[in-house]
Amino acid sequence: MDKKIIFSGIQPTGNLTLGNYLGAINNWKKMQDEYKCNYCIVDLHALTIRHDPEVLRKNIINLLALYIAAGLDPEKSNIFIQSHVKAHSELAWILNCYTYTGELSRMTQFKDKSAKHADNINSGLYTYPVLMAADILLYQTDLVPVGEDQRQHVELTRDIAERFNNIYGQTFKIPESYIQGAAARVMGLQNPNSKMSKSSTIPNDYILLNDEPDVILSKFKKSVTDSENVVRYDVENKAGISNLISIYSAITTKSKEEIEKEFDGKGYGEFKVAVAECVIDELKPIQAKYKELLNNRDYLESIYKDGAEKAKRVANKTLEDVYKKVGLVL
Ligand code: TRP
Repeated sequence: MDKKIIFSGIQPTGNLTLGNYLGAINNWKKMQDEYKCNYCIVDLHALTIRHDPEVLRKNIINLLALYIAAGLDPEKSNIFIQSHVKAHSELAWILNCYTYTGELSRMTQFKDKSAKHADNINSGLYTYPVLMAADILLYQTDLVPVGEDQRQHVELTRDIAERFNNIYGQTFKIPESYIQGAAARVMGLQNPNSKMSKSSTIPNDYILLNDEPDVILSKFKKSVTDSENVVRYDVENKAGISNLISIYSAITTKSKEEIEKEFDGKGYGEFKVAVAECVIDELKPIQAKYKELLNNRDYLESIYKDGAEKAKRVANKTLEDVYKKVGLVL
């Protein structure tokens, strides 16, 4: 049986957090044998927010190095940069003509981002989900591993694909989102009721993947808990401790019950140090590999060039089919 096709991507907008790693890349890594995976650096999406060009250029390469350092294997998965495969922009234009403005206006991420960047509500921010649909549909994707916040965009992708298929006949595979388990949903260390995010303005709320060990330890020591002093999973009443249990569980692969037992009778102080240590140990080899890769620009270049070539072969086939179907002359 053919392997199912996966597509996912992260925007190169700067330092990633432990949340990006446990919630996305670490899961992507585990899917590489079972699926045919496409892991993209979605640089065109990053243009929807004002940015410094030199910083963006660096961030793109840094994210590529991080993908590989964290265990994405170019021998198994196709790793590439979105803007290198021009079919993404070209299909996005066509799909724009099959997407209603009413649909785009309903996207909650658009509403959130417009509120946050009120001085720059550009059309790219508005049609962002259509470019995402193009990303996914070009590869005849079966599954899209994303966080809960992207589910709506994948739903829209399905609607656009079905609409197109209904008009022109079978063209796109209808993809499904593949929402990663709750264990991988990492919350803020200071505000455990919202997702860990590098845009948080609260100090010590997130762990960056390149934080030094002493910084990681100190952030975990300061993390918010409750007054019960019992390591027990209970998101409603003990959001902070539950988040630490989730992190520990995602890294050690121990179940919540096993963790509760392991720390039975022990206090939060000891538990926090254990969580910090497992995070430090997990990140150490990734940080080392990352630094090494950044010193090997030629290797990184060979990966993204090769990735783009492979991606183009698949993407151009879908795009050509679309061009024919909508009546363009080839
Ligand atoms: N919008 C996604 C996010 O912000 C990133 C993204 C762009 C993506 N294109 C994609 C994710 C295609 C999955 C598939 O997280």
